[in-house]
Amino acid sequence: MHPSVRSSPSPALWARGLRKRYPQGKSWIEALKGVDLELRQGEILTLLGPNGAGKTTLVKILAGLVEPDEGRVELLREGQGTWLGAVLEGNRNLYWRLSALENLIYFGTLRGVAPKEARRRGLELLEVIGLQNKAHQTVGTLSRGQQQRVALAAALVHDPPVLFLDEPTLGVDLEAQEAIRSWLLKLGIDGKAILLTTHQLDLAEAVANRVAILLEGEVALEGETQKVLQGSPRAVYRIELALLLDEGDLRLGRLQALGAEVEGRVVRIVGEETLWEVLRVLDPLPIDRVERESLSLAGLFWRVLRERRKPCSSGST
Ligand SMILES: Nc1ncnc2c1ncn2[C@@H]1O[C@H](COP(=O)(O)OP(=O)(O)OP(=O)(O)O)[C@@H](O)[C@H]1O
Ligand SMILES: [Mg+2]
Repeated sequence: MHPSVRSSPSPALWARGLRKRYPQGKSWIEALKGVDLELRQGEILTLLGPNGAGKTTLVKILAGLVEPDEGRVELLREGQGTWLGAVLEGNRNLYWRLSALENLIYFGTLRGVAPKEARRRGLELLEVIGLQNKAHQTVGTLSRGQQQRVALAAALVHDPPVLFLDEPTLGVDLEAQEAIRSWLLKLGIDGKAILLTTHQLDLAEAVANRVAILLEGEVALEGETQKVLQGSPRAVYRIELALLLDEGDLRLGRLQALGAEVEGRVVRIVGEETLWEVLRVLDPLPIDRVERESLSLAGLFWRVLRERRKPCSSGST
């Protein structure tokens, strides 16, 4: 893509009112309850959410692999078939008996790239993912993380303007994660529209221009990464105890009543007033440290989750 695409952040696709339910036993599970989403050129939109939130369902609907019960997806670009590159969850989508390079050439030509060019791009991509020495090895004999990396290369071999990456770093080692991270940043700068789902909040924070948090089939929060981080007015505090509280410790109930979340030796609280009350409850237990959690996606994500799980927070006050 030409870099000038970046200056006009026009939408690459949008979706409105997506609903999807699946049969579950004798009833239904609502995987998506009316989701709106827009993906723009030159942006990396990261979709976050706990297991079962509906992320993969959403990605599959956007990719045209699953039919929504309601709602519409519109692709704002000419051309069919080759507009998208995708790495879908748990599906490494490769031919096991072909070599890594053969797979890339195959998928490239399938999507309209001339064989010679597909080979050149294939070799280039193998180098980016650090697998040039495995180019001629059959994919079936590669490790899981290596296969995942080849799948990522296969999604990119035809240089599509839109990329859907559903947990692309799953099972991939640290070094490759780093490579993928800088590669994603470069792709965003190149003007591609990237929809990324991940459970790695540090990766999300490093690459995402925009984030959307999906909870139980609904978008709980959406916005530009910097804005959503700055726009969270109430600080989260993290207290690290020097020892573990006993299960039967009466303080646990009092902490919970204050809205604190206890996880091992870590106690998390929203808001400064609560911090002091919690410290009074903990007094005189030894404490290793108290800190204000920095503005991170991890903190924000945790807060959104917690606010949703506290059923009385909106009703009783
Ligand atoms: N084919 C299916 N049949 C029945 N239920 C399904 C199907 N696909 C998804 N679901 C259900 O829909 C809900 C959303 O699933 P989905 O895979 O979209 O979640 P996710 O956000 O991708 O989770 P994860 O983080 O674990 O990948 C889950 O409750 C899941 O069990
Ligand atoms: Mg998923």
